[in-house]
Amino acid sequence: MPVAIRQVHPVFVGEVSGIDITRPVSQPDVAAIEAGMDQYAVLVFRNQAVNDEQQMAFTRNFGAIENARGGNVTKEEDKRLVSGMNDVSNLGKDGKPLARDSRQRLFNLGNLLWHSDSSFRPVPAKYSLLSARVVNPKGGDTELADMRAAYDALDADTKAEIEDFICEHSLMYSRGSLGFVDYTDEEKQLFKPVRQRLVRTHPVTARKSLYLSSHAGTIIGKPMPEARILLNDLKEHATQPRFVYVHKWKPHDLLMWDNRQTMHRGRRYDEGQPRDVRRTTVAGDAPTIAQAAE
Ligand SMILES: [Fe+2]
Repeated sequence: MPVAIRQVHPVFVGEVSGIDITRPVSQPDVAAIEAGMDQYAVLVFRNQAVNDEQQMAFTRNFGAIENARGGNVTKEEDKRLVSGMNDVSNLGKDGKPLARDSRQRLFNLGNLLWHSDSSFRPVPAKYSLLSARVVNPKGGDTELADMRAAYDALDADTKAEIEDFICEHSLMYSRGSLGFVDYTDEEKQLFKPVRQRLVRTHPVTARKSLYLSSHAGTIIGKPMPEARILLNDLKEHATQPRFVYVHKWKPHDLLMWDNRQTMHRGRRYDEGQPRDVRRTTVAGDAPTIAQAAE
């Protein structure tokens, strides 16, 4: 049976059936999923009991896996998962929930802010794939917002005003908004701001979208408070319920989203209990704008 996709939200999100991603996927099915991503921006796969190797193999159908370096403050020796897997759990290497005052935990709380994965990289991510291995008993939904629908709903004056705006994104902006402001010199270097367009155009569909993220902290040429008010207003506009899909996790769900067309956030959960969700990330293929000269 070929892949079938059924839209499950008024403006985006498709649920995929007729596929087993623990096994190699045929080229026509890969093409159908890519086309589904272009159209729906988010795809839900149910009952996919993948292991890490299978998740990475499925991910590579859509491009190279992004190098995770510089994406968090977890030291190499403290990492629970193999290279290529992003740990979005609340677990330490010992498999137990991280302590409340763990620096790793406090930094990772930034995932509860609206963002687009890797918007802090000069070449930001294409897709993210999040697999639920252990679902938390209380909370932990993932919310996604359609940034194409949000862009379409802006008034013409705002669209004209922001068309060529360039923002600076950094993990230090998103974490700074939570009061997480202490970094080593090495981290400051890794987290140096990068430039991103505020309005992106999808390379296949040519649809425009707002490229917002909590990592965005400035707009080039604007005083900081003016930039932040505009970014905040746009975020409020873009995350109205009509543009948002709420994913309630079941074990072995796999959620796949296009970071170029959506924003997402995690929701709070019972951190005394495990939540084991693992992400693979497809690298992007181009910057959204030339970076500033060194
Ligand atoms: Fe994320």
